[in-house]
Amino acid sequence: MKKAQLRVIGVIGFSALTLAMVMTRVRSDSPSQLNGYQPAVEGQEQSFDQNKKIAELAKQISGKEDKPAGEVFKNVQMLKAVPAGRLLKIMELGYSKSLGVNCAHCHVVDQWDKDDKPTKQITREMIKMAAAINNDYLKNIKNLKSPNPIVNCTTCHRGQTKPALNMP
Ligand code: HEC
Ligand code: HEC
Repeated sequence: MKKAQLRVIGVIGFSALTLAMVMTRVRSDSPSQLNGYQPAVEGQEQSFDQNKKIAELAKQISGKEDKPAGEVFKNVQMLKAVPAGRLLKIMELGYSKSLGVNCAHCHVVDQWDKDDKPTKQITREMIKMAAAINNDYLKNIKNLKSPNPIVNCTTCHRGQTKPALNMP
């Protein structure tokens, strides 16, 4: 087999493995770890079907999943370089699930590019804050257990919009 072919197979294998790891982690989240996960639904959003919306969006970007989100979507400022398909995974697992909410917490549903809800801009600031913790602080603390220690939304939020200050 040619070197290039082997490399392609390697990349596909690696992506599948990463996805499998993400899926396993999601499934193994026990209800207790999610702190009584309750999607924050209110008023007209009551009947909101998140899985259906994600499927719709996935269909809209079909064929463009690997293109940078900045080229595929209209108003992506922080996650420009992330592949468009992965942006949807981040919305579903990184943001909604981490905070214990659904898309409507940060978006006017179906107007995904609009910045009407303050929570969407707060999220951009949170991305900056987490990056500062990771790059400016954690990296410079010696003798930690992980070679690349990081925090993400889940580290603090753990299924809640307001991170806990006390042990339950
Ligand atoms: C905690 C807040 C939050 C939640 C929850 C959330 N999003 Fe987002 N979403 C954002 C932010 C912030 C951006 C813009 C990111 C940037 O500027 O890089 C965004 C961008 C998007 C975009 C790109 C829109 C465009 O054209 O610019 C789509 C599509 C999207 N979100 C869909 C979803 C879906 C579907 C869900 C539910 C599964 C969801 N989001 C949940 C905060 C959120
Ligand atoms: C270092 C801890 C920490 C990290 C990491 C973190 N947050 Fe936060 N977040 C907070 C705190 C503290 C608040 C303020 C809660 C309050 O109002 O008292 C907050 C508030 C928020 C709010 C407003 C909640 C609401 O509904 O009013 C959103 C949205 C949010 N965070 C999203 C995110 C997202 C998305 C990430 C990952 C990119 C993230 N946060 C990472 C600590 C964190």
